[in-house]
Amino acid sequence: MQILDGKIVSQSVKDQLKIKTDFLKAEGKKPPHLAAILIGNNGASETYVASKVKTCNEIGFKSTLMRFEESIAEQELIAAIEQLNSDADVDGILVQLPLPEHIDEQKIISLIHPDKDVDGFHPVSVGRLVQGLPAFIPATPYGIMLMLEHYKIATTGKHAVVIGRSNIVGRPMSILLSQNTNPGNCTVTLCHSRTGNLKELCLQADIIVAALGKPGFLTADMVKENAVVIDVGITRVPDASKKSGFAIKGDVDFEHVAPKCSYITPVPGGVGLMTIGALMMNTYNAAQQKNR
Ligand code: GUN
Repeated sequence: MQILDGKIVSQSVKDQLKIKTDFLKAEGKKPPHLAAILIGNNGASETYVASKVKTCNEIGFKSTLMRFEESIAEQELIAAIEQLNSDADVDGILVQLPLPEHIDEQKIISLIHPDKDVDGFHPVSVGRLVQGLPAFIPATPYGIMLMLEHYKIATTGKHAVVIGRSNIVGRPMSILLSQNTNPGNCTVTLCHSRTGNLKELCLQADIIVAALGKPGFLTADMVKENAVVIDVGITRVPDASKKSGFAIKGDVDFEHVAPKCSYITPVPGGVGLMTIGALMMNTYNAAQQKNR
């Protein structure tokens, strides 16, 4: 069993981007510029956005953080997006989710200019991804693909079971794994809360991507010998022994599943660390205008 180490792979992605960014600067070109919008005081969102900004600084990207109160009017948020859309210096825009209840998430996502949609959530980005065109790929599935590539994991002709059909992870993951690419070329089964024979399907899987947000859901009796298991779960569960008061738990019962696997991602230290590297790749590509 080999651990797929998100720290090593994300560092390698960041190192490559830093070299490319240094090169741009040496040529007198501007560095990629990511603008993040953060609304309210959600602890997890604050942590994610802080690490996105920190990573920009580490690799030499420019970053702008716009913060708003939870009570922001939708119109004010729209005005901020329009300002960033028309700012020629800004290459990538992300609006950290979830948004407050009174704001229409889909409407906001659709207002980001598709050329700056580094989260890959805009309908244009999703359409391009589905058609196999160059596209901004959402950070989590993109990070997983980078990890499979880094460890040269054989995927062609394999049966991949993706558990969870969210727009952010499960659905784009199922599309990427089915594409005629390497990694890719899998036969994909997309499972969700209404799937009747989930255990039976998982037992047929060479690759399982667990992205349903239920700590410890995937147990050893659901996994065949030598499977590749990718754990996307990052649920905060109360833990008095931690300074923060919580621990991060994955969707996989790691202790019992790991001994059966050929490869497995840990939580923390796996997929979560890859997502920021993937976002930075998208931001670099936005600056290079690769997805137009
Ligand atoms: N909230 C949870 N994951 C994400 C993400 O990848 N992007 C944004 N914008 N918000 C999120």
